[in-house]
Amino acid sequence: MNIVAIHGLKGGVGTTTIVSNLAAAINAQSQPVLAIDLCSQNSLRLHFGMALQNENGFASQIAHHRPWHEAGYQSYNGVNFLPFGQDQDNKCINAIELYIRNHPNWLNDWLSTLDMPENTWVLLDCPLHPSPFHQDALKIADISLLVVNPEMLSYTCLHAPNRPRHLYLNSEQNQLMLLNRYCPSIDLERDITSLIKTDFAASLLPITIHRDEHLREAFAFKKSVIDAAPASQSAQDFSLAAFWLTARQAKLAQKREEEETELQLSKQPQGKAKITQITSRP
Ligand SMILES: Nc1ncnc2c1ncn2[C@@H]1O[C@H](COP(=O)(O)OP(=O)(O)OP(=O)(O)O)[C@@H](O)[C@H]1O
Ligand SMILES: [Mg+2]
Repeated sequence: MNIVAIHGLKGGVGTTTIVSNLAAAINAQSQPVLAIDLCSQNSLRLHFGMALQNENGFASQIAHHRPWHEAGYQSYNGVNFLPFGQDQDNKCINAIELYIRNHPNWLNDWLSTLDMPENTWVLLDCPLHPSPFHQDALKIADISLLVVNPEMLSYTCLHAPNRPRHLYLNSEQNQLMLLNRYCPSIDLERDITSLIKTDFAASLLPITIHRDEHLREAFAFKKSVIDAAPASQSAQDFSLAAFWLTARQAKLAQKREEEETELQLSKQPQGKAKITQITSRP
C-alpha cells in the first residue's frame, strides 16, 4: 500500500479538497484508493456524495461497539472512503480517543485486515492540531504531504523556528509539499511561489494546484472536479499530481527491488574460483 498523510500547514489551506480530488484523480488512473477522514469535522465524506444526514463513520461505529469497517463506503466514482462519523454530544470523539489509547497500532491493524490490492493508495486527511491521529498517521505513512498556500502567513510559518513539527516525517525524502490555490495573475502570489520553489526545491511537487472556482462548484455538486469539470485547470492539475505521485512510487519500488536483488546476490555463498587454462596449440 502507498500511504499518504495529508495535512495543512494551517487551517483552511484546502487539505480536504486535496485529499478528495487527488483520490479521484488516482482512481481515474485505475489505481485503487481508500480515503480516510481523521478529522472530527467529518467533511471529507461530503466530497464523495454522502448525505449530510448520514452520521455514520468509524468513530461512531466504535462508540456503538460495532465493527469499524461497516462505516466504509464507495463513492459514485469508485473511490473507497471511511468517514470519521459524528453525533450530537461528541460521544464518538471520546470513544475513539479511548479506543486509540488502548489500541496503539489501530490504524496499521485496520489497514492490514483490509482485502484490498497491494497497489492501493491510502490517503489520510489529517486534522490541523497535534493529536494522536497525527502521530498514528505519520507512524505508518510512506509520504507526508504538506498543503501550503502561496501567501505570506504560510511562508513565514514554513520558516518560523517553532514551525509545527508534528507535520513532519523523519525521512526528508518522503516529506513532500504541495502548493494549492495559486493564482498566477496576482504579483504577490507569483513572488511567494518563486520563493517557496527556491527554498523548498527538494520537497515541493513540481505541480501546483491553481485557484479554480470549478473546485468549489464541484464540491457544491458533491463531485470531484475531474468528474464535474474535466476540462478545467484544476482537473488537469490533479491529474498531473496523481500521475507524478504514482510514477514516483513506481520508480522507488523498482529501486527497492533492485537493491534487494543486489543484497540477495551479495549474500549468496561464493563458489570456489575456477581457473580455466586455455592452451592454444599450434
Ligand atoms: N485550489 C482551490 N481553488 C479554489 N477554492 C479552493 C481551492 N482549494 C480549496 N478551495 C476551497 O477552500 C475552502 C476550504 O477548503 P478545505 O475544506 O479543503 O480546507 P481545509 O484545509 O481542509 O480546512 P480545515 O483546516 O478546516 O480542515 C473550500 O471552500 C474549498 O472549495
Ligand atoms: Mg479539512
